Amino acid sequence: MANEQDNQLKKVISHAKEYGFIFPSSEIYDGLSAVYDYGQNGAELKNNIKEYWWKFMTQMHDNIVGIDAAIFMHPTTWKASGHVDAFNDPMVDNKDSKKRYRADVLIEDAIGKMEEKIAKEVEKAAKRFGESFDKDMFVKTNPRVAEYQKKIDETNDRLKTAMSSGNMEAMKQLIIDLEINDPISGTKNWTDVRQFNLMFSTEMGSVADDANKIYLRPETAQGIFVNFLNVQKTGRMKIPFGIAQIGKAFRNEIVARQFIFRMREFEQMEMQFFVKPGTEMEWYEHWKQTRMKWHKALGLGNDNYRFHDHLNLAHYANAACDIQFNFPMGFKELEGIHSRTDFDLKSHEKFSGKKLQYFDVESNQNYVPYVVETSVGLDRLFLSILSNSLKEEKLASAEGEEGNERVVLSIPPALAPYKIAVLPLVKKDGLDEKAKSIADDLRSSFRCYYEEKDTIGKRYRRMDAIGTPYCITIDHQTLQDNTVTLRDRDTMKQERVAIAALKDKVSESVSLTGLLQSIK
Ligand code: GAP
Repeated sequence: MANEQDNQLKKVISHAKEYGFIFPSSEIYDGLSAVYDYGQNGAELKNNIKEYWWKFMTQMHDNIVGIDAAIFMHPTTWKASGHVDAFNDPMVDNKDSKKRYRADVLIEDAIGKMEEKIAKEVEKAAKRFGESFDKDMFVKTNPRVAEYQKKIDETNDRLKTAMSSGNMEAMKQLIIDLEINDPISGTKNWTDVRQFNLMFSTEMGSVADDANKIYLRPETAQGIFVNFLNVQKTGRMKIPFGIAQIGKAFRNEIVARQFIFRMREFEQMEMQFFVKPGTEMEWYEHWKQTRMKWHKALGLGNDNYRFHDHLNLAHYANAACDIQFNFPMGFKELEGIHSRTDFDLKSHEKFSGKKLQYFDVESNQNYVPYVVETSVGLDRLFLSILSNSLKEEKLASAEGEEGNERVVLSIPPALAPYKIAVLPLVKKDGLDEKAKSIADDLRSSFRCYYEEKDTIGKRYRRMDAIGTPYCITIDHQTLQDNTVTLRDRDTMKQERVAIAALKDKVSESVSLTGLLQSIK
């Protein structure tokens, strides 16, 4: 990771810890690798993100319902889903640094470097030719670019073939041919590439033999597939319809780095959309666009999102793409959208011996529906919001503000842990009592933070750092005319507002309803 990106991620990690968003798990024992706990503010932000997703799926779509399936499932589930045999990552060790890597990621990074070289050639030529520069023509005709592109295409083809056939020797050969160095030791001293299954297992019951081996689910989707008929029949659902779920998933990731981006215990928000066979590509396109709009409504900047089509498809998919986000480490996967065909339902039919079909009244036919899945990592979404919102700002001297710089977390107001802070200017003359009674009145509508210690400027700084969209200050004028100053987190502007008008004024910008309505 480049230094600047590295620093930005470090700042996010330390801010998350200092302000009660995220702590290393079991920190008093020096933590547990790639496992994290959400603190008092993190838990609130996470719950608000979940609510945004859940309401969008199950409240704004009358053909989507939500479930909450158990983490433990019958072990045959994972045989049927293909995870026992195929949920592997190819791993390779560097003998000098003793570091372990995902072989496919090393190769993809090498492809990324070749792509960067093309981008540099284009940039240079654009400067040279000025306004008359024709990028498409240049890319097609420049011999150096053509050479890089040829190598990229060949590498992608070889990677795809090796991954889909599970040919680990071919993977190793690619690493050799691409002359990939270990980023740490700088050497090419690699072990053979081996497959590594990512599922955690444990034993159920008191007898620890293999028959009782069960898995911690590596995706929430299977809990939806095995309940497909239960929900369809009891909910009288008609195709097309969706089943949504939020829950924990577990993966024994080979390389678990980059904070909450890649964890061993994480949370997914998944929706399986069941459609008539033959219509899946239409729905795949539909959900690609719909999910992108949902993300962009958060206001983190449209340029920070892009689609990335998968060349190496998972064992269940006939089309797949990621919505990538511009994290501190660069553009990386935030959400996956997959056309999963009828692979899962058919396979569960085969392994369970139970029919998992839908009777279509219009065509008078039974069929196994096709599935389009949207799957977003809650923790990654959390990281995208936190990292994008954390800002250090220089302040032009502003009345009532402390110091000449501030750290502010400009998270979308509807997702903020506290919506409003209630601050008596001083803790005397009855201002504190008045402030407490205002806070009590607001609490049924918003999460309020009440604080009376320190200067008002310091209290504003603390509220900025946890992303509280509004602060209200109760001063002596309040006792006379029942007005307060309302300070906006982002603009730092203050205005005098009647206490009676506060709820409406604040609701306008902090309500989840407003955010949901803004999805266009
Ligand atoms: N049911 C499909 C599925 O699980 P995936 O692309 O493997 O597909 C979906 O995962 C999403 O889950 C990813 O886009 C990512 O946001 C999140 N995710 C996957 N592995 C993760 C990990 N180790 N830590 C955090 N989030 C993860």
